[in-house]
Amino acid sequence: MSPGAAKGAGEGRRLLISGNWKMNHDHFQAIATVQRLLYRLGPPEYAAAEVSIHPPFTDLRSIQVLLENDDPPIALGAQHCYWEDSGAFTGEISPVMLQKLGVRYVIAGHSERRMLFGDTDETVARRARAILDHSMVPIICVGETEAEREEGRSIERITSQVKGSLAGLSPEEIAGSVIAYEPIWAIGTGRTATPEDAQEGCAAVRTEVASIAGETAANSLRVQYGGSVKPANAKELMDLADVDGVLVGGASLDADAFAEIVSAVAS
Ligand code: 13P
Repeated sequence: MSPGAAKGAGEGRRLLISGNWKMNHDHFQAIATVQRLLYRLGPPEYAAAEVSIHPPFTDLRSIQVLLENDDPPIALGAQHCYWEDSGAFTGEISPVMLQKLGVRYVIAGHSERRMLFGDTDETVARRARAILDHSMVPIICVGETEAEREEGRSIERITSQVKGSLAGLSPEEIAGSVIAYEPIWAIGTGRTATPEDAQEGCAAVRTEVASIAGETAANSLRVQYGGSVKPANAKELMDLADVDGVLVGGASLDADAFAEIVSAVAS
């Protein structure tokens, strides 16, 4: 694909490359990482893809200030949020707070939240609703476990998560959202999905979206692949017909590696 090209026949789906730092980097490390990223990225990279970074909440303000000063086209992202605006919800972060910080993308229902912290399709749908209500974009995560894959139930799992997590959203809202297909067996394992698996999973997401919200929404919605994405495999994955970007964990912690992932589609 040529730099700056958008996917989806006539739909203009721009690649979105997102770095999910998970619970890594304090605010000093965050500043150093983003400064290095700004040094490594330039107009050809920004033309080829939209870039977002999703640091821990405690880093958001420091990075917001850094990005405001330099005004680069890197979008600020969060990893999670609650659905209420305010109140007695100890430990939670409100979408209002994220919006005030200039956050554009918010991850909802990452598999680690689903497995370790009790997120369900229903709570993911409530988060997505709140994110959209505050003019931000949800990146809704879906993906099967290793056991489901071995039982041949990957597509069934992806389909039911997509359906449950989008419940209550309008076709227009779905069209502007992002879904990340992250097979759990590929996360943090170094076992990237094969291009065939990644394409099949992302296509299954789009097919289900078409049946819920119609073809127009399905052709506009961006689908990311996530799971052991590295500089060496990023371009091959993003060249796939239904892969509109990547959600990167481990490799996004290193500004040089993350910049190389973006550069891979700019060259
Ligand atoms: P890794 O890139 O470390 O496999 O993590 C993927 C992920 O979970 C991104 O959200």
